[in-house]
Amino acid sequence: MSAQLSLRVPHDVAGLVARLHEAGHEAFVVGGCVRDALRGVEPGDWDIATSAKPEAIQTLFRRSLYTNRFGTVVVQTGDREVEVTTYRVESDYADHRRPATVAFTESLEADLSRRDFTMNAMAWRPSADGGELVDPFGGRADLERRVLRAVGDPGERFAEDALRMLRAVRFATTFGLEIDPPTARAIGAHAGLAAKLSGERIQQELRKILAVPTPSTGFRMLADLGLLRVICPELEDCKQVPQEKALALDVFEHSLITLDNTPKDDLVLRLAGLLHDVGKPDTFDGGHFFHHDVVGAAKARNILRRWKFSKDEVAQVSHLIRHHMFWYESEWTGAAVRRFIRKVGLESVDALFALRRADNAGSNRFASAGRMVSLEELWQRVEEEVHSASAFSMSDLAISGHDVMNVLGVPQGPGVGRVMKELFERVLDDPDLNEREQLLALGRDIAARG
Ligand code: CTP
Repeated sequence: MSAQLSLRVPHDVAGLVARLHEAGHEAFVVGGCVRDALRGVEPGDWDIATSAKPEAIQTLFRRSLYTNRFGTVVVQTGDREVEVTTYRVESDYADHRRPATVAFTESLEADLSRRDFTMNAMAWRPSADGGELVDPFGGRADLERRVLRAVGDPGERFAEDALRMLRAVRFATTFGLEIDPPTARAIGAHAGLAAKLSGERIQQELRKILAVPTPSTGFRMLADLGLLRVICPELEDCKQVPQEKALALDVFEHSLITLDNTPKDDLVLRLAGLLHDVGKPDTFDGGHFFHHDVVGAAKARNILRRWKFSKDEVAQVSHLIRHHMFWYESEWTGAAVRRFIRKVGLESVDALFALRRADNAGSNRFASAGRMVSLEELWQRVEEEVHSASAFSMSDLAISGHDVMNVLGVPQGPGVGRVMKELFERVLDDPDLNEREQLLALGRDIAARG
């Protein structure tokens, strides 16, 4: 309890707490919102815990909905939806905050004692006379010391819900906390339980870890705690593979540096950075990693599907990994540059260069300086082509398949595609040809040749 402490609770939320009090019940704002308010961060959601039973909550608030048997009534305030939950003790959080079994209790402390971390196990009662913080496990002090600590016996907390182990890494990474050694040891001991977690829940945590400026911290933590081996053995395997002999850097460390060098607001690039070399362990022959781009693209697809990333995200990441090993020489003709753009796809060029820059930053410093120069030279030439040339895919041609049929009289069938393909190749060689009359004339010759 603290005399000076005051948390700013929105008027409507404080109003709900006051109504419950007036009706003779205990009520507090609780969990993540108290933690965030103490950290000086605007909470996303406000949750209330109360001694009132669901029926009593519903009687008090007309605009409310009780849709499950877990004690949570959703109350509409006009400004927002607030979850008002009866004090409870539960055994199994089968699905995020929805335990498989639940028993109500009269005791706030019993409710708090089954929550995951001390910083999430605090309650605040807003009131006109200044308010009251209930913090039986020292969450406030832990936040101040920047320590993440499980409530009570850490092993019990993680056995109740394996997701809490990933939440620990996520909170430690996003808030910059140290995990308390007994809590870390318990994660190590229970890491195997993470095998049962659904891909969606893993994805949710990973997205948050990937959004921090230096996400390598989170992945290193996952590895050190034994969680990476369970949720992503493909990345764990990268630790066994040397990246640059001179630097004695393994592929895992290289992947993390690459990851940190991708932009933090681009999830696709972050995932591509993290997973771009995941094909290396399978393809290492003692010196080279032949086709690790192809193998890596397939492995990344499997990993991301396992974590239930969207089809589009999976496709974009694996496409970037598939093409990340492009090479370049100054002797390339304009046509070669245009063929390169066609191969990787105009829409992927920016991302592919961003990945390659990050990849180079994660490589041997001396070797990468040279590589960087030619990468930037290719980038310049790609930019020039993008601005001057007009066709990087068949659909950019100045005539269509319909023209080949209707104007040139080629019957519907493979012949149309053959004419279009040859025209496209000619335009890649000479962009000036991409003009309707010229293409029709050329197409006539090609069709006549049969
Ligand atoms: N909680 C828990 N174990 C979980 C999930 C949640 O004990 N596996 C408890 C914590 O007290 C948490 C509260 O339920 O503070 C609300 O959970 P949730 O809204 O999922 O997370 P927050 O802690 O609010 O944080 P965030 O919104 O960033 O996920």
